[in-house]
Amino acid sequence: MTALGWGKIILLGEHAVVYGYPALAAALDRGVTIAPVPTPAGGPLRLDIAAWGLKIKAGDDHPVAHGLVAIADTLDIGRPALSLLGDAQIPHSAGLGSSAALAVAIARALLTHAKRPLDPTTIGNAAGASESLLHGRASGIDVALAMAGGIGVYRKSTGLRPLAARGLRVLVGPSGSPRSTAAMVERIADATDSLPADERLAELGGLTDSGTAALLAGDLAALGSAMNRAHEILAGLGVSTPQLDSLCEAARATGAHGAKLTGAGGGGAIIAIAPRDRESAILAEWKAVGVTGFVATVGARSQ
Ligand code: MEV
Repeated sequence: MTALGWGKIILLGEHAVVYGYPALAAALDRGVTIAPVPTPAGGPLRLDIAAWGLKIKAGDDHPVAHGLVAIADTLDIGRPALSLLGDAQIPHSAGLGSSAALAVAIARALLTHAKRPLDPTTIGNAAGASESLLHGRASGIDVALAMAGGIGVYRKSTGLRPLAARGLRVLVGPSGSPRSTAAMVERIADATDSLPADERLAELGGLTDSGTAALLAGDLAALGSAMNRAHEILAGLGVSTPQLDSLCEAARATGAHGAKLTGAGGGGAIIAIAPRDRESAILAEWKAVGVTGFVATVGARSQ
């Protein structure tokens, strides 16, 4: 048996979502899978993800080991003699929700091994405990998408409201520069003085509303211009980088409807939406500066 957590992108509303505004987000068509393999001779609870070169055990002084312990403790599951063997189809520390995808997959694998029900609240609490340790103040959006898949509008107060949107093709460009979500969330707190009423956060929330309407109407040009404006606001708040700006600019100059950073920023990934016949040219522009992007179809029901 293999347990899964989806990676994600945020189309609109990151950072503002921490302060109660809505965000439009989608699970990627890829993520992290975990197979729990019993170690009959006993031994500690282990986690091994070859794709990330990650090999840790409960009790190690490593952020992911701390997250693993937080998940096991929240589930009240002890330290079963298991090797959690993982496969990752998304890079880590890239703003694509890898830590939440991992946490959800681990929680599901541990519950399944213990023959306990896969209760969404239990999984969400366990994955959320790991996310809080790793990222500090988190809205919960990454965990919600890692669990549910699909596409939807997320609010801290009401959770994820799924949307019945048709599959949307999104170009994803992991910049290769790592980011720290906790540091970027703190940067926004420093840059905004009247939280949560700051007008830039309110505008980001408004762009989620107009961008969602555009998505549902199939108006990709309008969705793209909402993304462009969101990037401009996020850059003004200090969470973009010259590299992310120039990757977005290259996508727009090559015909994208819109491009922006996705997730916390300060490194991590950018996303773009574009007419189908411009996609390969945009990927080639990114490749020329060392960024290997891919096209993900989001919103087609993942589970
Ligand atoms: C991280 O994927 C998105 C942020 O808005 C933080 C959060 O919502 O937890 C930057």
